[in-house]
Amino acid sequence: MMLVIPSPEVGLDRYTPRRTARSRGRTLPYELSMDKLHIHGPCRLDGTIRASGAKNAALPCLAATLLTDEPVALSRVPPVRDLATMRRLLAHLGVESEDRHDGATVFRAASPGSLDEAPYELVKTMRASCLVLGPLTARRGHARVSLPGGCAIGVRPIDQHLAGLEALGATVRLEHGYVETRAKRLRGTRFRFSVPTVGGTENLLMAAVLATGTTVLENCAREPEIVDLARLLSAMGARISGAGSSTIEIEGVDRLGAAEHPVIADRIEAGTYLIGAAMTQGDVTVDGSDPADLAPLLEALVEIGAQVDSLPRGAGDAPDGRIRVRAGERLGARDMTTAPHPGFPTDLQAQYQALMTQAEGISHVRETVFENRFQHVPELVRMGARIRTRGSVARIRGKARLSDATVMATDLRASACLVLAGLVAEGTTIVDRIYHLDRGYERMELKLQALGARVERVG
Ligand code: UD1
Repeated sequence: MMLVIPSPEVGLDRYTPRRTARSRGRTLPYELSMDKLHIHGPCRLDGTIRASGAKNAALPCLAATLLTDEPVALSRVPPVRDLATMRRLLAHLGVESEDRHDGATVFRAASPGSLDEAPYELVKTMRASCLVLGPLTARRGHARVSLPGGCAIGVRPIDQHLAGLEALGATVRLEHGYVETRAKRLRGTRFRFSVPTVGGTENLLMAAVLATGTTVLENCAREPEIVDLARLLSAMGARISGAGSSTIEIEGVDRLGAAEHPVIADRIEAGTYLIGAAMTQGDVTVDGSDPADLAPLLEALVEIGAQVDSLPRGAGDAPDGRIRVRAGERLGARDMTTAPHPGFPTDLQAQYQALMTQAEGISHVRETVFENRFQHVPELVRMGARIRTRGSVARIRGKARLSDATVMATDLRASACLVLAGLVAEGTTIVDRIYHLDRGYERMELKLQALGARVERVG
C-alpha cells in the first residue's frame, strides 16, 4: 500500500486526508491551514457553549481500536487536526473507519497483515502517534514507529514507554530515527515509571491488556483521559483496576472485542473558555464538562474573585456536568505551579498567564512538567504584558493594559493564550499560524462568536 503524504515544504494547508475504502468522512477543518484569527477587542464573553470531546482522550482511544478485529464505535471524537492525523495513521495501519449518522465513528482493524509502521511524515506532526506502539506490539507482535515530533515544548523523550515495553518482554531497537519492537506475546510484569507519564501509562496499558498474566504498573499518571481509555478497554473486554490512581493492575486476556464508547469532555478546552470568562469580566457556562476534572483551575478562579457554579457529571439536568464562571469586580493575583493530575494542568499554564496579566498584583507561575513552555511570553510582552521569566518561573505584574499586535505561537496552548490576550486587548489582534490551534480546539472562532466575541478566521 502506498500512502502519499505531501511534505510540509509544499504545504499541507489544503490537504484533504485520504479516506479508506469505506470511509465517508465529514469534511473537517483539519487541513494545515495558514489562516489567521482577527480578534477585535476588548470584548466580554457571555453565554453558553458545549464542550467538545477531549483530544487527549480520543487519541489513545483511536489507538486502542488496533487491539481488536471487531468494530469499535467512538462518539464525541472532536473534529480537530490531531485526530485527523491519528485517523490517517490508523488508515495507514489498515484500520477502516466510517462515520455513522449518529456522529460516532466506527473503526475496524480487520486486516492483521497490514503495515506495522508509523512513518516519520505522520509522527513528526504529532507526538501522540507513538501511542500505536503498545497496541501494535501487543496485537501484531511488531511495530516500527518514528521517534516523535509534536509541540515544540522541550525534549519530551519516550524512554519510559520503551522501558515498559521491554519489561513486558518486547525487544526494542532504535535505528534510523525509528523505534522497532518485537514480541511473540507480551508477558505480564511489574513496572514502575520513573516519571508519571500520560502517554507512557496509556501505551503500557494498551500493551498489557493482551499480555499473558498480570501486569502491575506503578507511579502511573492519573489524568482523567487515562481513566477514559481504561473505560473503553474494559468495554472491549479488558480487565483493569486502579486506573486514575498511581497503581494500575491489568489481568491480560486473549482477545478483545467490539465496543461503543463516548469520549469524555475536553477539560483543557473548557478551562480555556472559563479563563476567558474571568479575564473579560464575562459570564460563561460550559455544558458537558465535569467540574471534578478541572478542580485546581476552579479553586484558583474562586480565590482570585470569580464566582464558580457547577454541577458534577450526572447531577440535575447535566448528564455530563456543567460549569459556569462569572467574573468578579476585580481579579486578584495568585501564584500557580503546574503538576501532573490532580495538580494544575500544564496545558492551562499559558492561558493562566494571560489571565494573570489582568489580575491586580504580582503572581508567579512555575512550570514543572515541561521545560521550554514559556514561548507565549515574548508575544504577550509585545502586547503590553509585564512578564519576566527566570528558568521555570514567570513573574507577572498585573493589571496590564494590552494592545493589539500581530502575534503567533509555535504550540497549541500558547496559541490559545494569545487568543485570550487578544480578547482583552484594545484594537485588532491578529493571531497567526492558527494551525496550531486547529490541532486541538474545535473551531475556536465559532465558539468565541457564540459567546459574543468579534473574532474572524481570515484565510
Ligand atoms: C500528554 C498530553 C499533553 C500534556 C502532557 C502532560 C496527550 C496527547 N498529550 O502528553 O497535552 O501536556 O500529557 O499533561 O495526551 N517523560 C519522560 N519520559 C517518557 C515520557 C515522558 O521523561 O518516556 C517526561 C516528559 O518529558 C515530560 C513529562 O514526562 O516532562 C510528562 O510527559 P507526558 O505525561 O508523557 O506527556 P505526553 O503524554 O507526551
